[in-house]
Amino acid sequence: MDKLVWVNNQQYLLQKNIEQSVPFLQHFTSEQVNRVTAFHHTYEKFKNTPLRNLQALASLLGVQNIMVKDESYRFDLNAFKVLGGVYAIGQYVANILGRNIEDLSFEQLKSPEVKKQLGDLTFISTTDGNHGRGVAWAARELGFKARIYMPAGSAEERLQNIKNEGAYAEMTTMNYDDTVRYTAKLAQDNGWVIIQDTMWEGYEEIPLWIMQGYTTLVKEVVDQLEKAPSHVFLQAGVGSFAGAVVAYLKQSYTQEITFILVEPYAANCFYESFKQGAPHYVTVGGEMQTIMAGLACGEPNPMAWEILKTYTKIGICCHETVAATGMRVLGNAIGTDARIVAGESGAAPFGCFYELMTNEHYALLRDTLQINEHSRVLFFNTEGDTDVENYRNIMWHGGYAK
Ligand SMILES: Cc1ncc(COP(=O)(O)O)c(C=O)c1O
Repeated sequence: MDKLVWVNNQQYLLQKNIEQSVPFLQHFTSEQVNRVTAFHHTYEKFKNTPLRNLQALASLLGVQNIMVKDESYRFDLNAFKVLGGVYAIGQYVANILGRNIEDLSFEQLKSPEVKKQLGDLTFISTTDGNHGRGVAWAARELGFKARIYMPAGSAEERLQNIKNEGAYAEMTTMNYDDTVRYTAKLAQDNGWVIIQDTMWEGYEEIPLWIMQGYTTLVKEVVDQLEKAPSHVFLQAGVGSFAGAVVAYLKQSYTQEITFILVEPYAANCFYESFKQGAPHYVTVGGEMQTIMAGLACGEPNPMAWEILKTYTKIGICCHETVAATGMRVLGNAIGTDARIVAGESGAAPFGCFYELMTNEHYALLRDTLQINEHSRVLFFNTEGDTDVENYRNIMWHGGYAK
């Protein structure tokens, strides 16, 4: 099996798609993003995560800059996902109270008067780990209950991390997409509020808030980077994260940015959709077992799809070893570069980039992307060592080297 395979997205920049993407992009204007960021900043311990410039690595690999936004530092939760969950819960509660979220703070949401108005709220969600931990954290911080369900084969450590946030958490015998359907049914039967990071017909508002929630991290990058990156490699599960990043970056710079989407072989719904070349996406199923647990989703978020099919140039799917190499390279800094503790889903895009810059087999892909000594390449380390056992297996014992 090839370490990675890639495909040109035939829907890329089609005029019809550009026109259709306009209403979606409007959910990610700087005005909206400022609203999200203002809410997140009311959390007393809020801190920006670092944007690392890996200069020694960039010289070694032959590009101008390698920039990594390191979300392993987010809220001490080791992943970016909490930004979406907490914003969605905040927005949901604001709506019930008939208030604007920009007038509400974490402290106000926690207040006894608010609790009295709201009664007992339970939030429910499916997760590979990071999203559910974020929802559990947000529910606990704001004084609500959370119930979190994980697909079969999830890491015990990730389940335990969710329980440690005070939520009820359980592992099912189903894959991710079937577990989502199961939790949606539980929510309906019990009057619980589903906070899911993907969208389906009739369930659009909360997943949009989650996508908007992610934009705080993109704004931090934009605030720091005067000049646009030339290339952005983005990991995709359901594509909510990548869709939000693309939507906001597109509107933040006038320079052209090349977006590349990365998935594992086992869950490559965007890759397969690009390959098919049609305006609508295809889904993939099965067990989707991969160390890139955060990317193990077979059904795109329809709104993210509309954005990503329009602005993604290339879709890549990669072998487990590619993510593992990415983790090792980022975790073993050279020169004065910062060390980055990157988990499997966090490192996959960098792993693909490393492969295509060092393996002549991918020279055509490198040329297609026009990556060269002038390129300023941006990555998002979306998680740290969220599965410590596997992290050490890879970093210390050479796991997934071949
Ligand atoms: C660490 C990590 N990176 C990336 C993603 C992908 O996000 P999305 O499902 O929105 O594409 C996830 C999703 O859970 C994740 O946990």
